[in-house]
Amino acid sequence: MPAFRQDLESVAPYVPGRSEAEILAEYGLDHVTKLASNESPVQPFPEVVQAIAAAASNVNRYPDTTYQRLGPMLADHLGVPVDHLWFGGGGANILLCVTLSTTGPGSSVVYAHPSFLVYRLSTAVAGAESVEVPLDGEHRHDIDAMIAAVRDDTRLLYVCNPNNPTGTHVPSSEVLRLLDAVPESVLVVVDEAYHHYVEADDYWSMVSLVDERPNLAVLQTFSKIYGLAGLRIGYLISRPDLLDPLRKTQLPFTATNLAQVAAVAALRHTDRLAERIETNADGRAELVQGLKARGMATADSQTNFVFARLHDDPLAVTEGLLSRGVIIRPTGTAWQRITVGTPSEIAEFFDALDAVVSGVGSP
Ligand SMILES: Cc1ncc(COP(=O)(O)O)c(C=O)c1O
Repeated sequence: MPAFRQDLESVAPYVPGRSEAEILAEYGLDHVTKLASNESPVQPFPEVVQAIAAAASNVNRYPDTTYQRLGPMLADHLGVPVDHLWFGGGGANILLCVTLSTTGPGSSVVYAHPSFLVYRLSTAVAGAESVEVPLDGEHRHDIDAMIAAVRDDTRLLYVCNPNNPTGTHVPSSEVLRLLDAVPESVLVVVDEAYHHYVEADDYWSMVSLVDERPNLAVLQTFSKIYGLAGLRIGYLISRPDLLDPLRKTQLPFTATNLAQVAAVAALRHTDRLAERIETNADGRAELVQGLKARGMATADSQTNFVFARLHDDPLAVTEGLLSRGVIIRPTGTAWQRITVGTPSEIAEFFDALDAVVSGVGSP
């Protein structure tokens, strides 16, 4: 028997939202509504699909690790110099590399709880210690508690804004307050995977601040609003003097050539994002109103998902929904996360929810 790292024995692997194929097979269904993984319910723009198809024959070549086409386009779109960008095979790949490059045994990482599970997982993989700071009563980051949680051995701090799985945001002035309070030796990564969906007036992206701040990096992704989750491409925005050491733990070629081609094509149509944002906001409002009308508590959402307390027996509800072909995301608490689907998917969710709740009893 080979020997494995003992410190990983207690680490639970990342469990993604259950897949459509898995549920179809398990329950013998012919149709599944997947509201479990915060994906875009609509496909990429048709021009993006065409660009992927046209580039498919080039996959005998390794990807361009200099991002000659994508780099300048994204830099222009974000208003940052091209040397402020670092790409990876999904934002999750970058998060792992950031954690590996900054921490290790004897150091700690501060982040909120519950928040994106990849922070916990990558901290464990790095052999560092997680310092998890509970969200406040409104399911928001508790900025004072996070500042207080920073220790001498802290090297990295994640702010998930808006937060997954709760959908809540912290005002950007609060993020600035945290940046002012935290020592410059601590890298602060603001994870803006869901920034497109935010409507709150007190929220703005931290991208424009990366040059002013010596310890700030911002994570964004093509997985959400652009609908490219299956291709895996995300990016970190920071100063080159931070990106150079951070990149060292990344293996080459994680952002594939098809992912790059798709991202380039998607950036040609950013004028169509407003429509997607509006559709998401409408679906989100419908989901929240429907849940509230059924007496179920919801957290404020600035994202493409809603955190809700559906029932005292969340497992029974999740299972009941699965048996009716609706996949939502359990969070290991009394609350569950439901991704905003299309209007018909939302209707299917409520039909199934009503049937399940009438079977297991009122919340
Ligand atoms: C908060 C947060 N950050 C980062 C990511 C990474 O996304 P990806 O690896 O698909 O780019 C996700 C994906 O769900 C997320 O929820």
